[in-house]
Amino acid sequence: MNERLQKYLYILVCMLIVIRSTEGFFVDITYVQSAVAKGAVCLDGSPPAYHFDRGSGAGINNWLVHFEGGGWCNNVTTCLARKDTRLGSSKEMVKQVVFSGILSNKPQFNPDFYNWNRIKVRYCDGSSFTGDVEAVDPATKLYFRGARVFVAVIDDLLEKGMKNAENAVLSGCSAGGLTSILHCDNFKALVPMGAKVKCFADAGYFINAKDVSGAQHIENFYDDVVETHGAAKNLPSSCTSKGKPSLCFFPQYMSQQIKTPLFITNAAYDSWQIKNILAPGVADPHGTWHNCKIDIEKCSPSQLETMQGFRTEFINALTGLGALTSRGYFINSCYAHCQTETQETWLRSDSPVLNNKSIAEAVGDWYYDRHPFQNIDCPYPCDKTCHNRIFDPHENPSE
Ligand SMILES: *[C@@H]1O[C@H](CO)[C@@H](O)[C@H](O)[C@H]1NC(C)=O
Ligand SMILES: *[C@@H]1O[C@H](CO)[C@@H](O)[C@H](O)[C@H]1NC(C)=O
Repeated sequence: MNERLQKYLYILVCMLIVIRSTEGFFVDITYVQSAVAKGAVCLDGSPPAYHFDRGSGAGINNWLVHFEGGGWCNNVTTCLARKDTRLGSSKEMVKQVVFSGILSNKPQFNPDFYNWNRIKVRYCDGSSFTGDVEAVDPATKLYFRGARVFVAVIDDLLEKGMKNAENAVLSGCSAGGLTSILHCDNFKALVPMGAKVKCFADAGYFINAKDVSGAQHIENFYDDVVETHGAAKNLPSSCTSKGKPSLCFFPQYMSQQIKTPLFITNAAYDSWQIKNILAPGVADPHGTWHNCKIDIEKCSPSQLETMQGFRTEFINALTGLGALTSRGYFINSCYAHCQTETQETWLRSDSPVLNNKSIAEAVGDWYYDRHPFQNIDCPYPCDKTCHNRIFDPHENPSE
């Protein structure tokens, strides 16, 4: 081989290594067939599913169970629309997903969890895994069984080795982040006694704020979710005994009662919350918020003022977490939603930091009791480390 060709091949191999090591890796789907007999199924009756990468070495008895997000369906119409999509049926799910960020298997990208057993649980019930209605309407054939899916998936993982867990984390992003809050103590109760168990929610702290028209849009929406899925009986009774059960879908009203250590990562200007809680389409019939929701830099001064007000409400709602030192939080001032599943926001040389710590460092320090972490960023636009989302103007601004 001549020298030039050799050099060329060398460069090519280096490039391939760089691509492989930066872009995560694919993990196959596993269907939980045994769940079907228990009636623990997706909206369409298909088995639930997850993606599982086995731990190794010192991480062999450590388990990170991470729940996928994807909003909610609040009534028969929206649940029917979801039923034959990947968010309602395992028949529609891709067979492989990319593991990166908190799911990465590389020490340099995920120093505290890379060698753990890492599971991404697919979301196909539309209720953050809280629903349980026995009856199935023959006209719609919709199954509302999210809470059963949660138990069936955890049982399956216990069988696969989690029964020997020494360390365990329940995590998730968006509706999956909410799952990790709502089910935190349930998870603790299901894994072996003596295991060190903590919960970590990314972009799951949805707040009860009025929209820009003054309506209680998200509160009404959650009322419908809880009603449609029969979820009230599966929300923490320490909260539901005190008032309207559907309010217990909001972390601010129920998280104080959680006994297991809990960490919240959230952007104060969470882009999903701005688009769907503060300025949903129904509250903005003339679309004056359209450009602002796509790109925070396009917001008018008065819209930014409204968003600062939302941040203040968010910070007030965060007091619902309680003041325990076992609580952790990383609230940055980015326009973002879910910052743990992508490498650039979880841990990279240019990833967001707060108090000079990336989310990966803050969460790892908190989990391993190296250092508590309770920090809230200064208001937008002070933080230059943000990876602010810019949405495609053609996509539905509410999704
Ligand atoms: C279902 O919910 C959607 C979204 O909130 C709403 O637009 C629609 O009117 C509701 N449909 C029914 C039948 O209640
Ligand atoms: C921030 O962290 C980096 C890397 O951990 C360190 O080199 C730097 O000195 C820190 N800066 C401050 C201001 O603490």
